[in-house]
Amino acid sequence: MATRKMEKTAADFREIPLHSLRINSVTNFDIYIKVAARNQEERFVLYRERNIPFSESARKNLTDCGTDILYIDASDEKEYQLYLENNLEAIIKDDEVSHAEKSNAAYQCAIGLVEQLLENPRSGEHVKRSKLFISNLVDYLLSDSHAFFSLMTSMSFNYLTYTHSVNVAVFGIALAHKLGQFTQHSINTIGSGLILHDVGKGLIDPRILDKNGPLNDDEWAVMKRHPADGANLLRSLGNVSEQALIIVEGHHEKLDGSGYPRGIRGVDVHQYARIAAIADIFDALTTRRPYRPALRSFEALELMKKEMSEQLDRDLLREFILLLGDRAARI
Ligand SMILES: [Fe+2]
Ligand SMILES: [Fe+2]
Repeated sequence: MATRKMEKTAADFREIPLHSLRINSVTNFDIYIKVAARNQEERFVLYRERNIPFSESARKNLTDCGTDILYIDASDEKEYQLYLENNLEAIIKDDEVSHAEKSNAAYQCAIGLVEQLLENPRSGEHVKRSKLFISNLVDYLLSDSHAFFSLMTSMSFNYLTYTHSVNVAVFGIALAHKLGQFTQHSINTIGSGLILHDVGKGLIDPRILDKNGPLNDDEWAVMKRHPADGANLLRSLGNVSEQALIIVEGHHEKLDGSGYPRGIRGVDVHQYARIAAIADIFDALTTRRPYRPALRSFEALELMKKEMSEQLDRDLLREFILLLGDRAARI
Protein backbone atom coordinates (compact mmCIF):
# COMPACT_ATOMS: atom_id res chain seq x y z
CA MET A 1 0.00 0.00 0.00
CA ALA A 2 1.39 3.40 -0.95
CA THR A 3 2.07 5.66 2.03
CA ARG A 4 1.05 9.27 1.73
CA LYS A 5 3.35 11.88 3.17
CA MET A 6 1.60 13.55 6.07
CA GLU A 7 0.71 17.16 5.28
CA LYS A 8 2.16 19.53 7.85
CA THR A 9 -0.29 21.63 9.82
CA ALA A 10 -0.08 25.02 11.57
CA ALA A 11 1.07 23.21 14.72
CA ASP A 12 4.26 22.18 12.91
CA PHE A 13 5.32 25.79 12.35
CA ARG A 14 6.46 28.71 14.50
CA GLU A 15 5.91 32.35 13.71
CA ILE A 16 8.97 34.60 13.42
CA PRO A 17 9.05 38.35 12.75
CA LEU A 18 10.59 39.46 9.46
CA HIS A 19 12.60 42.05 11.39
CA SER A 20 14.50 39.36 13.23
CA LEU A 21 16.22 38.37 9.95
CA ARG A 22 19.33 40.43 9.31
CA ILE A 23 20.34 41.37 5.78
CA ASN A 24 23.21 39.21 4.45
CA SER A 25 23.09 36.86 7.44
CA VAL A 26 22.90 33.15 6.68
CA THR A 27 19.77 31.58 8.09
CA ASN A 28 20.37 28.05 9.27
CA PHE A 29 16.67 27.18 8.98
CA ASP A 30 14.14 27.07 6.13
CA ILE A 31 11.76 30.00 5.91
CA TYR A 32 8.10 29.59 5.05
CA ILE A 33 5.26 31.95 4.25
CA LYS A 34 1.60 31.32 4.91
CA VAL A 35 -0.79 31.44 1.96
CA ALA A 36 -4.53 31.00 1.85
CA ALA A 37 -5.46 28.02 -0.34
CA ARG A 38 -8.57 28.02 -2.51
CA ASN A 39 -10.49 25.95 0.01
CA GLN A 40 -9.79 28.71 2.57
CA GLU A 41 -7.37 26.52 4.46
CA GLU A 42 -3.95 27.91 5.27
CA ARG A 43 -0.88 26.38 3.69
CA PHE A 44 2.77 26.91 4.52
CA VAL A 45 4.97 27.31 1.48
CA LEU A 46 8.77 27.14 1.48
CA TYR A 47 10.01 30.64 0.70
CA ARG A 48 13.79 30.34 1.23
CA GLU A 49 15.90 27.33 1.91
CA ARG A 50 18.40 27.26 4.75
CA ASN A 51 22.06 28.18 4.41
CA ILE A 52 21.66 31.04 1.97
CA PRO A 53 22.10 34.67 3.02
CA PHE A 54 18.93 36.63 3.57
CA SER A 55 19.10 39.38 0.95
CA GLU A 56 17.94 42.97 0.83
CA SER A 57 15.73 42.12 -2.18
CA ALA A 58 14.08 39.25 -0.29
CA ARG A 59 13.19 41.62 2.52
CA LYS A 60 11.89 44.23 0.06
CA ASN A 61 9.73 41.66 -1.76
CA LEU A 62 8.18 40.56 1.51
CA THR A 63 7.66 44.11 2.76
CA ASP A 64 6.07 45.10 -0.58
CA CYS A 65 3.60 42.25 -0.17
CA GLY A 66 2.77 43.40 3.36
CA THR A 67 4.35 40.27 4.87
CA ASP A 68 5.98 40.92 8.22
CA ILE A 69 5.46 37.49 9.77
CA LEU A 70 7.29 34.43 8.48
CA TYR A 71 7.37 30.83 9.67
CA ILE A 72 9.92 28.19 10.49
CA ASP A 73 9.45 24.47 10.98
CA ALA A 74 9.04 23.80 14.72
CA SER A 75 11.91 21.30 14.51
CA ASP A 76 14.22 24.24 13.61
CA GLU A 77 13.38 26.24 16.74
CA LYS A 78 16.79 25.64 18.31
CA GLU A 79 18.53 26.75 15.10
CA TYR A 80 16.46 29.92 15.13
CA GLN A 81 17.29 30.59 18.80
CA LEU A 82 20.98 30.26 17.96
CA TYR A 83 20.56 32.60 14.99
CA LEU A 84 18.92 35.18 17.28
CA GLU A 85 21.74 34.81 19.78
CA ASN A 86 24.37 35.45 17.09
CA ASN A 87 22.48 38.45 15.74
CA LEU A 88 21.10 39.87 18.97
CA GLU A 89 23.33 42.91 19.09
CA ALA A 90 22.17 44.05 15.62
CA ILE A 91 18.51 43.33 16.42
CA ILE A 92 18.67 45.33 19.68
CA LYS A 93 20.35 48.30 18.00
CA ASP A 94 17.93 48.42 15.04
CA ASP A 95 15.51 51.35 15.38
CA GLU A 96 13.08 49.67 12.96
CA VAL A 97 12.57 46.75 15.34
CA SER A 98 9.82 47.27 17.92
CA HIS A 99 10.35 46.84 21.66
CA ALA A 100 8.17 43.75 21.62
CA GLU A 101 10.22 42.16 18.84
CA LYS A 102 13.53 43.03 20.53
CA SER A 103 12.32 41.64 23.83
CA ASN A 104 10.97 38.47 22.26
CA ALA A 105 14.25 37.95 20.40
CA ALA A 106 16.29 38.48 23.58
CA TYR A 107 14.03 36.21 25.62
CA GLN A 108 13.83 33.43 23.00
CA CYS A 109 17.56 33.17 22.54
CA ALA A 110 18.16 33.40 26.29
CA ILE A 111 15.92 30.47 27.10
CA GLY A 112 17.51 28.42 24.30
CA LEU A 113 20.95 29.20 25.67
CA VAL A 114 20.13 28.50 29.33
CA GLU A 115 18.28 25.29 28.46
CA GLN A 116 21.45 24.01 26.77
CA LEU A 117 23.59 25.29 29.63
CA LEU A 118 21.56 23.34 32.20
CA GLU A 119 21.47 20.22 30.03
CA ASN A 120 25.24 20.30 29.76
CA PRO A 121 26.50 22.39 32.68
CA ARG A 122 30.09 21.25 32.25
CA SER A 123 30.43 22.89 28.85
CA GLY A 124 32.60 25.99 29.06
CA GLU A 125 31.27 27.01 25.64
CA HIS A 126 27.78 27.69 27.02
CA VAL A 127 29.24 29.77 29.83
CA LYS A 128 31.13 31.89 27.28
CA ARG A 129 27.96 32.34 25.23
CA SER A 130 25.99 33.37 28.32
CA LYS A 131 28.50 36.15 29.05
CA LEU A 132 28.13 37.58 25.55
CA PHE A 133 24.35 37.33 25.81
CA ILE A 134 24.37 39.16 29.15
CA SER A 135 26.40 42.04 27.76
CA ASN A 136 23.79 42.44 24.98
CA LEU A 137 20.94 42.17 27.48
CA VAL A 138 22.53 44.77 29.77
CA ASP A 139 23.09 47.11 26.78
CA TYR A 140 19.41 46.77 25.92
CA LEU A 141 18.13 47.24 29.47
CA LEU A 142 20.37 50.25 30.13
CA SER A 143 19.82 52.03 26.85
CA ASP A 144 16.06 51.88 26.69
CA SER A 145 13.65 52.72 29.49
CA HIS A 146 10.89 50.59 27.90
CA ALA A 147 13.05 47.49 27.70
CA PHE A 148 12.39 46.15 31.19
CA PHE A 149 8.59 46.14 31.00
CA SER A 150 8.70 44.95 27.42
CA LEU A 151 10.86 42.01 28.54
CA MET A 152 8.45 41.30 31.39
CA THR A 153 5.71 40.94 28.79
CA SER A 154 7.80 38.32 26.95
CA MET A 155 8.45 36.29 30.10
CA SER A 156 7.14 32.83 30.69
CA PHE A 157 5.11 32.44 33.87
CA ASN A 158 5.41 28.68 33.90
CA TYR A 159 8.28 27.80 36.17
CA LEU A 160 11.12 25.97 34.49
CA THR A 161 14.70 26.24 35.71
CA TYR A 162 15.87 27.77 32.44
CA THR A 163 13.08 30.36 32.07
CA HIS A 164 13.53 31.13 35.79
CA SER A 165 17.25 31.83 35.26
CA VAL A 166 16.48 34.29 32.47
CA ASN A 167 13.69 36.02 34.43
CA VAL A 168 15.95 36.37 37.48
CA ALA A 169 18.68 37.92 35.30
CA VAL A 170 16.22 40.48 33.90
CA PHE A 171 14.81 41.41 37.35
CA GLY A 172 18.23 41.56 39.00
CA ILE A 173 19.90 43.60 36.24
CA ALA A 174 17.00 46.08 36.27
CA LEU A 175 17.24 46.38 40.07
CA ALA A 176 21.03 46.85 39.97
CA HIS A 177 20.62 49.54 37.32
CA LYS A 178 17.89 51.26 39.35
CA LEU A 179 20.24 51.59 42.34
CA GLY A 180 22.43 53.89 40.22
CA GLN A 181 25.63 52.92 42.00
CA PHE A 182 27.11 50.32 39.67
CA THR A 183 29.19 50.72 36.52
CA GLN A 184 28.03 48.87 33.41
CA HIS A 185 30.94 46.47 33.93
CA SER A 186 29.63 45.64 37.42
CA ILE A 187 26.09 45.20 36.08
CA ASN A 188 27.46 42.77 33.48
CA THR A 189 29.14 40.84 36.29
CA ILE A 190 25.89 40.77 38.29
CA GLY A 191 23.98 39.68 35.16
CA SER A 192 26.43 36.83 34.51
CA GLY A 193 26.05 35.62 38.08
CA LEU A 194 22.26 35.83 37.83
CA ILE A 195 21.85 33.89 34.61
CA LEU A 196 24.18 31.20 35.96
CA HIS A 197 22.85 31.26 39.52
CA ASP A 198 21.09 27.87 39.38
CA VAL A 199 23.59 26.11 37.12
CA GLY A 200 24.25 23.69 40.00
CA LYS A 201 20.71 22.37 39.52
CA GLY A 202 21.92 20.91 36.21
CA LEU A 203 23.96 18.49 38.34
CA ILE A 204 21.00 17.27 40.41
CA ASP A 205 19.26 13.97 39.63
CA PRO A 206 16.08 14.91 37.69
CA ARG A 207 14.10 12.54 39.93
CA ILE A 208 14.78 14.98 42.77
CA LEU A 209 14.82 18.21 40.76
CA ASP A 210 11.48 17.54 39.02
CA LYS A 211 9.80 15.61 41.84
CA ASN A 212 6.13 16.32 41.85
CA GLY A 213 5.66 16.57 45.60
CA PRO A 214 7.47 17.51 48.79
CA LEU A 215 11.14 16.54 49.11
CA ASN A 216 12.26 14.34 52.01
CA ASP A 217 15.22 15.37 54.21
CA ASP A 218 17.82 13.57 52.10
CA GLU A 219 16.47 15.07 48.89
CA TRP A 220 16.49 18.55 50.44
CA ALA A 221 20.09 18.06 51.46
CA VAL A 222 20.94 17.29 47.81
CA MET A 223 18.93 20.28 46.59
CA LYS A 224 20.71 22.61 48.99
CA ARG A 225 24.06 21.72 47.48
CA HIS A 226 23.29 23.48 44.18
CA PRO A 227 24.73 26.94 45.07
CA ALA A 228 28.13 25.58 46.17
CA ASP A 229 28.24 22.85 43.51
CA GLY A 230 27.37 25.40 40.81
CA ALA A 231 30.06 27.84 41.98
CA ASN A 232 32.68 25.07 42.18
CA LEU A 233 31.80 23.82 38.72
CA LEU A 234 32.06 27.31 37.21
CA ARG A 235 35.31 27.91 39.07
CA SER A 236 36.76 24.75 37.54
CA LEU A 237 35.69 25.87 34.05
CA GLY A 238 37.30 29.29 34.55
CA ASN A 239 36.05 32.33 32.66
CA VAL A 240 33.59 33.43 35.39
CA SER A 241 34.79 36.08 37.84
CA GLU A 242 34.75 35.52 41.60
CA GLN A 243 32.45 38.55 41.83
CA ALA A 244 29.85 36.78 39.67
CA LEU A 245 30.33 33.59 41.69
CA ILE A 246 29.25 35.48 44.83
CA ILE A 247 25.75 35.36 43.34
CA VAL A 248 25.91 31.68 42.36
CA GLU A 249 27.14 30.70 45.82
CA GLY A 250 25.11 33.18 47.87
CA HIS A 251 21.67 33.58 46.30
CA HIS A 252 19.94 31.48 49.01
CA GLU A 253 21.67 33.18 51.95
CA LYS A 254 19.38 35.28 54.17
CA LEU A 255 20.18 38.30 56.37
CA ASP A 256 18.85 36.54 59.49
CA GLY A 257 21.14 33.55 58.95
CA SER A 258 18.31 31.20 57.96
CA GLY A 259 19.62 30.64 54.43
CA TYR A 260 22.02 28.14 52.91
CA PRO A 261 24.63 26.83 52.17
CA ARG A 262 26.65 28.74 54.78
CA GLY A 263 23.92 30.32 56.89
CA ILE A 264 25.82 33.62 56.99
CA ARG A 265 24.01 36.71 58.26
CA GLY A 266 23.89 40.51 58.08
CA VAL A 267 26.89 42.29 56.61
CA ASP A 268 28.40 38.96 55.61
CA VAL A 269 25.76 38.61 52.90
CA HIS A 270 27.20 40.48 49.90
CA GLN A 271 25.05 43.07 48.15
CA TYR A 272 25.16 41.07 44.91
CA ALA A 273 23.71 38.07 46.75
CA ARG A 274 21.01 40.30 48.30
CA ILE A 275 19.97 41.53 44.84
CA ALA A 276 19.90 37.95 43.58
CA ALA A 277 17.76 36.79 46.53
CA ILE A 278 15.07 39.38 45.78
CA ALA A 279 15.00 38.61 42.04
CA ASP A 280 15.04 34.86 42.73
CA ILE A 281 12.20 34.86 45.27
CA PHE A 282 10.06 37.27 43.25
CA ASP A 283 10.29 35.11 40.13
CA ALA A 284 9.65 31.91 42.08
CA LEU A 285 6.49 33.42 43.59
CA THR A 286 5.13 34.89 40.36
CA THR A 287 5.48 31.74 38.24
CA ARG A 288 3.18 28.70 38.23
CA ARG A 289 4.24 25.49 39.91
CA PRO A 290 2.45 22.14 39.73
CA TYR A 291 1.56 22.49 43.43
CA ARG A 292 0.47 26.14 43.49
CA PRO A 293 -0.70 28.91 41.17
CA ALA A 294 1.39 31.99 40.39
CA LEU A 295 0.96 35.05 42.60
CA ARG A 296 0.27 38.40 40.96
CA SER A 297 3.23 40.79 41.18
CA PHE A 298 1.72 42.97 43.90
CA GLU A 299 0.76 39.89 45.96
CA ALA A 300 4.33 38.60 45.73
CA LEU A 301 5.75 41.99 46.77
CA GLU A 302 3.30 42.19 49.69
CA LEU A 303 4.30 38.73 50.86
CA MET A 304 8.00 39.53 50.57
CA LYS A 305 7.52 42.78 52.50
CA LYS A 306 5.41 41.27 55.28
CA GLU A 307 6.88 37.83 55.73
CA MET A 308 10.51 38.17 54.63
CA SER A 309 11.52 41.52 56.06
CA GLU A 310 14.10 39.91 58.36
CA GLN A 311 15.55 37.85 55.56
CA LEU A 312 15.78 40.30 52.70
CA ASP A 313 17.51 43.68 52.42
CA ARG A 314 14.68 46.16 53.09
CA ASP A 315 16.28 49.03 51.16
CA LEU A 316 16.76 46.86 48.11
CA LEU A 317 13.23 45.51 48.40
CA ARG A 318 11.89 49.07 48.54
CA GLU A 319 13.84 49.93 45.38
CA PHE A 320 12.50 46.79 43.70
CA ILE A 321 8.93 47.75 44.60
CA LEU A 322 9.58 51.25 43.19
CA LEU A 323 11.04 49.71 40.05
CA LEU A 324 7.88 47.74 39.40
CA GLY A 325 5.84 50.76 40.49
CA ASP A 326 2.13 50.90 39.94
CA ARG A 327 2.51 48.40 37.09
CA ALA A 328 2.84 45.73 39.77
CA ALA A 329 -0.83 46.17 40.48
CA ARG A 330 -1.63 45.15 36.92
CA ILE A 331 0.78 42.28 36.24
FE1 LIG B 1 18.84 28.45 43.59
FE1 LIG C 1 16.78 30.37 41.45
